[in-house]
Amino acid sequence: MNVLLIGSGGREHAIARQIHLSAKLDNLYISPGNPGIAEYGKNTILNISDHQSVINFCKENSIDLVVVGPEQPLIEGLADSLIENSIKVFGPNKEAAKIEGDKSFAKEIMQKANVPTGEYKKFNKINKEAALTYLETTSYPTVIKAIGLAAGKGVLICNNYKEAAEAVINCFEKRIFGESGDSIIIEEFLTGQEASVFAICDGKEFVTLPVSQDHKRIFDGDNGKNTGGMGSYAPAPIVNDKLLTEIETRIIQPVLDTLASEGKKYTGCLYAGLILTEAGPKVIEFNCRFGDPETQVVLPILEGDFLELLYSAASGNVSKNSVSYKGKSAVCVVASSKGYPDEYKKGFEISGIEKAEKSGAIVFHAGTKFEDGKLLTNGGRVLGVTAVVNNNDLKLCKEKAYEFISKINFEGMYFRKDISDKAIYL
Ligand code: AMP
Ligand code: GLY
Repeated sequence: MNVLLIGSGGREHAIARQIHLSAKLDNLYISPGNPGIAEYGKNTILNISDHQSVINFCKENSIDLVVVGPEQPLIEGLADSLIENSIKVFGPNKEAAKIEGDKSFAKEIMQKANVPTGEYKKFNKINKEAALTYLETTSYPTVIKAIGLAAGKGVLICNNYKEAAEAVINCFEKRIFGESGDSIIIEEFLTGQEASVFAICDGKEFVTLPVSQDHKRIFDGDNGKNTGGMGSYAPAPIVNDKLLTEIETRIIQPVLDTLASEGKKYTGCLYAGLILTEAGPKVIEFNCRFGDPETQVVLPILEGDFLELLYSAASGNVSKNSVSYKGKSAVCVVASSKGYPDEYKKGFEISGIEKAEKSGAIVFHAGTKFEDGKLLTNGGRVLGVTAVVNNNDLKLCKEKAYEFISKINFEGMYFRKDISDKAIYL
């Protein structure tokens, strides 16, 4: 099989590594890829927003499957263009991808499907006064979310009226999220541990992968600003088999059914971001793609043929036995640049990756570049350093992950020290 993978981050590095393990793979192209991914395939520069050029590339290189890593191309309709040209794609079409691209659409689908989620109200910038009046009566903390994509930064947790009013002004007047924040939802604050569930969907049916947990805040103990994710572990023991079945039957299946009944069949990875409240699991977001850095722990603990799984889903008949889980655990610690998620500098030389890999680390590149024979930092999140153990021992796995990351260095390197503690010290 010839595969084109779109994307350039740690998530795509993990997907490429897993696809590369398949006996069915002939050629893997990644656009644009990164220096780490190049180990598994050919990095290729394509203009992803020019759908015709992607189609031409697929035809010229006999691509059997396109796997789309990030949300943006899906929301822009890349899958639609490929399908129109009879090219198989893992990732939803434009209408179905709105589940991530438009938070009010996601809420409407959840309401129709009777899926548990936080109470909310929607406001547009022309109703600024109504939003402010509503904030006088709501309870705190409260959550304000930009309706459109905001690079993972569009969620503001406000502890009191003053903070919430400021958030509304920031969205509607200062337009800190641009058009994405011209409409907002004000959502009930939910309390509980978080979990990320990946469902591999073929439009009607799905299989779930081991459940993981992300660490979104920059500092230990979940303090400080939200980031794209500072580390992850899987499986998350808090989601036992009974709870996973509840998530599948009360959340994933009804959403797929509701989308299908509206002619928006969902193919690809449906990522449900959940808070496990005392009243049961509730959805805080859906994403139309794999999570990052969750993918860096979920994929390495799978057995079987991941490419076959993606291909079967893209073909409309998801295979229930291409992959299985047999008791491994993984912990991923993200090494980030000093200053992230605010401003940070790039271009520092990275050392120690080989040493870490020799000790058993899987080092995923998230923001790196190769220049003049040197590997340099090139993003806020630079590397995802993953440890895998065979025997479901998260404590040992955490120790290994931190031993691995201690071998790596670049100027200003920062990482959290408490990844997976929530599972270890339950
Ligand atoms: P998101 O970008 O939607 O994943 O949200 C970022 C983070 O904000 C989540 O990981 C949660 O920690 C938090 N969050 C989002 N919605 C809620 C909510 N309704 N209640 C509490 N925390 C939330
Ligand atoms: N780790 C969160 C996300 O991928 O959206």
